[in-house]
Amino acid sequence: MEYKHIHIIYFSPTHTSAKIAYAIAEGLGGDVLLESDMTYEALAEEVEIHSDELTIVAAPVYGGRVAETAMERLRAFQAHQAPVVPVVVYGNRDYEDALKELSDTLAEAGFIPVSAGAFIGEHSYSRKDMPIAAGRPDGIDLEIATNFGRTIRKKLELVDELSDLKPLEVKGNFPYKVKGPSKPQAPVTDEDLCTQCEYCLDVCPVSAISIADDRMFSDPTVCIKCCACVKECPEGARTFDTPYTAMLHKNFNARREPELFV
Ligand SMILES: Cc1cc2nc3c(=O)[nH]c(=O)nc-3n(C[C@H](O)[C@H](O)[C@H](O)COP(=O)(O)O)c2cc1C
Repeated sequence: MEYKHIHIIYFSPTHTSAKIAYAIAEGLGGDVLLESDMTYEALAEEVEIHSDELTIVAAPVYGGRVAETAMERLRAFQAHQAPVVPVVVYGNRDYEDALKELSDTLAEAGFIPVSAGAFIGEHSYSRKDMPIAAGRPDGIDLEIATNFGRTIRKKLELVDELSDLKPLEVKGNFPYKVKGPSKPQAPVTDEDLCTQCEYCLDVCPVSAISIADDRMFSDPTVCIKCCACVKECPEGARTFDTPYTAMLHKNFNARREPELFV
């Protein structure tokens, strides 16, 4: 079967999921690349995906599940028997039930999952002094992602109809992992370094940051702890202090590799 368009849909505060989606799209080829970046806002209206479009949906793993904000924003997409490649990106600890959750949710929205993958990205909580999967996806990961795209392309070329494909099985359990309670917390600003350029306001996916009394204020009840503001502050003025950084750095330093379900 042939597809006219490749469509990448992603939620990716620190850009690792987006990088993987682009690398897979490169391997898939196709004439037109459509992009729906769901990181900074939700769509105002529902979007119908057509069956001549091959869609890649990429999102980060938060607590062994798909990041909640991604799940909310993905609800805007409905499909009518359109092929999809669900992709999750996680910070070298584990992705637990996230890929299954994403794949099942897309199937419920009318997509047909054809292949899926779990990739590794630098952990949101990684720091220079305590790196966790720092610099990933690296060249090796991106090559695996592009080759994965080529493999999917060949797989689809071999069938006339999507219904000729075997239903896709991915790793993960149902009922999905229940996440423990999460304490409201947000990154803080070093006032001596901050120049109030307001870039952090632009990169926050949930508008948790504002200026009050000439100071940056992050609302911990809104913040999703994605650490985009920490990683992107041009002055290095934002930090997120969590005991998870040391724990993850110590216990999850053995390199994990992408897992592909073709
Ligand atoms: C709140 C939160 C929870 C996370 N939970 C996990 C997890 O359960 N397992 C894991 O390996 N990485 C976890 N991560 C790390 C992200 O999955 C990882 O950094 C990912 O590459 C971020 O994707 P993005 O760059 O597209 O935003 C978590 C990150 C955050 C902010």
